[in-house]
Amino acid sequence: MDYLAIEGSNKLSGSVNISGAKNSALPLIALSILAKNDVRFSNLPNVVDVQTLIKILVMLGASSNMADKWEQNNNINIIENPNEAIINTNNITNLKVIYDVVRKMRASILLLGPLLTRFGKCQVSLPGGCAIGARPVDLHIKAMQQMGADIEIKNGYINATATKGLVGNHIIFDKITVTGTENIIMAAALAKGKTIITNAAKEPEIIQLCEILKQSGVEIEGYGSDEISIKGTDRELIDICDISIIPDRIEAGTYLCAGAITNSNITLNNIIPSHIESITDKLKEIGFGFSFSENSISMIPAKSLKAFELITAEYPGFPTDMQAQFMALATQCNGVSVIEERLFENRFMHINELQRLGANITLDGNSAKINGVTKLIAADVMATDLRASSALILASLVADGESIIHRIYHLDRGYEQIEQKFSNLGVKIRRGRD
Ligand code: EPZ
Repeated sequence: MDYLAIEGSNKLSGSVNISGAKNSALPLIALSILAKNDVRFSNLPNVVDVQTLIKILVMLGASSNMADKWEQNNNINIIENPNEAIINTNNITNLKVIYDVVRKMRASILLLGPLLTRFGKCQVSLPGGCAIGARPVDLHIKAMQQMGADIEIKNGYINATATKGLVGNHIIFDKITVTGTENIIMAAALAKGKTIITNAAKEPEIIQLCEILKQSGVEIEGYGSDEISIKGTDRELIDICDISIIPDRIEAGTYLCAGAITNSNITLNNIIPSHIESITDKLKEIGFGFSFSENSISMIPAKSLKAFELITAEYPGFPTDMQAQFMALATQCNGVSVIEERLFENRFMHINELQRLGANITLDGNSAKINGVTKLIAADVMATDLRASSALILASLVADGESIIHRIYHLDRGYEQIEQKFSNLGVKIRRGRD
């Protein structure tokens, strides 16, 4: 397995180009199942999760120029135009999404709504849990049943049928769920009649999915608020417009934390300032300043780093996907910082690994106290999940000596060209194989 070796105690400098958002690309790739045409993507992040989802569609019978390119080159880093793809789903015949692919990527659950609403039946493996929690999909299933689907859970599979297609209904989500909202938006787009989703998620990736549907002729209103309404096409396929993926707000936040933990002046290009407001607000509270241009942000180093408190929440609140990165930053802030994780029951796997680097953290239930400033010392550490892994990189930037981060396949799922981007910022980083 691959590892990353990082030499600590460097200031960063220069700029980094932010890639397209993984969590916007995944639902939009699933959306291509509803298309009558070739769907053209640009600014796709060249990351494993995007490749995995396109490969799953090809396994079901879809075609994509990207899959052809991957066939010809087993090294994905040398294909030309890796950030563009064309997908055609008109030849899908296999409607079973098997456990072996779903267990590797939970977001495969996003195929349930589109396959069911277009084909009237499908089998999708239950995702199972992951490092950060049980990750149930009960809300997805309950909503589809309310739209007329017969669903049986058997042998670890969701067996869904709606032979006459899905019917619009009023769906009230007990909890705000990002992929649950995305699944129902896509299911509703081809349903008969109108669907109203109450307690809908409001993340930028939800907004982009709805904007693409609207630009493609679907009547959809209210996105960005608690209540979204969609008038279905009654199984009429959609002529989906060209899609350019929005910038990745979590990748941007991760690099801002890299600038913050080393108290450096760096610039991020290809960002949307409003998408990272909760992150920059928190960094300002800690002592940093920012200058913005239309699609870039530059950090102004802090005179001193102040301890902070944060509670994770659904968008536009502070994102849970940035919790681990701020925990690494907290080790360098003066005083005791408090971080409370409200969305996932087990999203603290990074604490043990940060402690191996010398961090002084105590956990009480879903609240962690981080004593700063702590001098971190390089060590071997283990990546456990995508965002925890990026927190270990951040801590390694200020640890004395060379840290080795093992099992970085987690990082490759969601961060494009991570060692090249950090190296361009002046970090001594290299990839090796265990
Ligand atoms: C999405 O996961 C993201 N993944 C996650 O990012 C992100 O952490 C999460 O939203 C929260 O923002 C993608 O977009 C592909 P949820 P999702 O459904 O949709 C509970 C990353 O690092 N829940 O919004 O799976 C659930 O247990 C990943 O890129 C149910 O109880 O998250 C959690 O406590 C990690 N039943 C809460 O809701 C359900 O049916 C929010 O989960 C669904 C969810």
